[in-house]
Amino acid sequence: MTAQLIDGNALSRQLRADVTARVTALKARGITPGLAVILVGENAASQVYVRNKVKACEDTGMHSVLERWPATMTEAELLARVDALNADATIHGILVQLPLPAHIDAQKVIEAISPAKDVDGFHIASAGALMTGMPGFWPCTPYGCMKMLESIGYGLKGKHAVVIGRSNIVGKPMALMLLQQNATVTICHSGTPDLKAMTLQADVIVAAVGKRNVLTADMVKPGAVVIDVGMNRNDEGKLCGDVDFEGVRQVAGWITPVPGGVGPMTITMLMVNTLESAERLVA
Ligand code: GUN
Repeated sequence: MTAQLIDGNALSRQLRADVTARVTALKARGITPGLAVILVGENAASQVYVRNKVKACEDTGMHSVLERWPATMTEAELLARVDALNADATIHGILVQLPLPAHIDAQKVIEAISPAKDVDGFHIASAGALMTGMPGFWPCTPYGCMKMLESIGYGLKGKHAVVIGRSNIVGKPMALMLLQQNATVTICHSGTPDLKAMTLQADVIVAAVGKRNVLTADMVKPGAVVIDVGMNRNDEGKLCGDVDFEGVRQVAGWITPVPGGVGPMTITMLMVNTLESAERLVA
């Protein structure tokens, strides 16, 4: 059996076409959704990510502002910028690209963002809303994974989902979203003694560790859905995920590729969150 691909590029194109149409409708009512992206320092991967985010705004007709600051920026200066953007009526979403330089307390900066503009979904108010099933912004990467499952018509009720990784950005919110859809959820992490024993029971596996070959074919139940959140480089410098794609695709029922899987979906869901933040003004 060879797994069917869940194509994140194709799904992103569909969802972004819907975003573009809704942006056009909102503009007709006098509101242009606006995203502010703040990048501090010169992290190479972050520069690529923020460029892609700003380009996605342009492609969907949204307003965007990219602020690039030197790594010497102080925490107080950054907090002042966040305050200014909180008060800026042309901005509906604020994203401070992580990681920040070590002298800046990232959590303090995230908590300074108005929850109404927290389109990354990283503020504790957003995390609490997700946990309690209240309205709020969902973190873009796990939100994109849920959209991928929805796109194949996968019903999670009664299924066992195993999430590998427990980060605040992906693993933990992913587990809560799967739980909300009535899956039975197991969170595995570096302290899990027998990962394979867990993943072999899974109908859905989400790998979000940031390490190559965390999931290999012998760890997957035939027909399982495998979602690969990893973004790593192999020995040849090629982009790869956390999953041994060539091996696992022989066993799984569905699999997301890297690149072209979860990556584009993360940016798409950022566009959705920013649009919905602006739409709330006329709701
Ligand atoms: N760094 C890596 N991924 C992300 C993300 O989704 N949002 C922000 N703000 N920083 C990141």
